[in-house]
Amino acid sequence: MSEPDAATSRVLIVMPTYNERQNLEIIVGRIREAVPAADLLVVDDNSPDGTGDLADKLAEKDTSVQVMHRTEKAGLGRAYVAGFTWALERGYDLIVEMDADGSHRPEDLPKLLATAGSADAVIGSRYVPGGTVVNWPKSREFLSKGANIYNRIMLGVRVRDATGGFRVYRAETLRKIDLRGIQSAGYCFQIDMTLRVLQRGMTITEVPITFVERERGASKMSNTVIIEAFTRVARWGISNWLHGHTAASARR
Ligand code: GDD
Ligand code: MN
Repeated sequence: MSEPDAATSRVLIVMPTYNERQNLEIIVGRIREAVPAADLLVVDDNSPDGTGDLADKLAEKDTSVQVMHRTEKAGLGRAYVAGFTWALERGYDLIVEMDADGSHRPEDLPKLLATAGSADAVIGSRYVPGGTVVNWPKSREFLSKGANIYNRIMLGVRVRDATGGFRVYRAETLRKIDLRGIQSAGYCFQIDMTLRVLQRGMTITEVPITFVERERGASKMSNTVIIEAFTRVARWGISNWLHGHTAASARR
């Protein structure tokens, strides 16, 4: 097994987008500056605001940027599964998950990538010491903290930010996971992946990040996303309980 070293690994950042026209160019610029050696794959779900066309223009100017155009808004989880599959087919060593709206700071990436040398997966975490959230309304903070408590009770997950979407996976980690079997369409994809990594006995390390709420555009969080997460987590919890195992017994 080859140990990915942050300095020599081939890194792909997978970035799902839906109506992020106002954010895309800014975030791409910041990424290129913070991690010049990394490649970027924008996975756009045919955004009505023309994010996909803008992504094509950026890709024309910069060979490290590529675009996957999907036909319709099918959820963050599906976009990531498609992006991960693309990355594995092309032999990347480290695969990054990252939002396009500036909430995940590219400047935190070197720290996350360095940690991937000693963990199967890395989560940029808002809820470990040193981690924080800037500019979130109280309602959103409540939802996120509540979701993490709910996950802990239902699933025994000890990861503090199991819903966080700023992550690094080693390619071998993704290869050990049945990506095609993932049914989570929306944001519960993050919890799904957390569970899959832990249930295969692999390690997750949380690295503190500062999550900055977007300044432009709108969140795609919706009741559908929340209900999907709530019901899937309940189902996984019951199924784990029936089979007599929890993710808590996995290493952290
Ligand atoms: N392709 C595609 N398809 N992209 C999507 C979709 C979709 O259906 N839904 C959302 N996105 C993209 C957005 O354009 C953005 O780049 C990223 O996914 C995150 O979406 P936001 O709408 O900004 O998410 P958020 O700020 O409400 O939620 C954040 O916190 C969640 C809970 O911790 C994200 O970091 C999530 O990943 C995280 O689960
Ligand atoms: Mn956001």
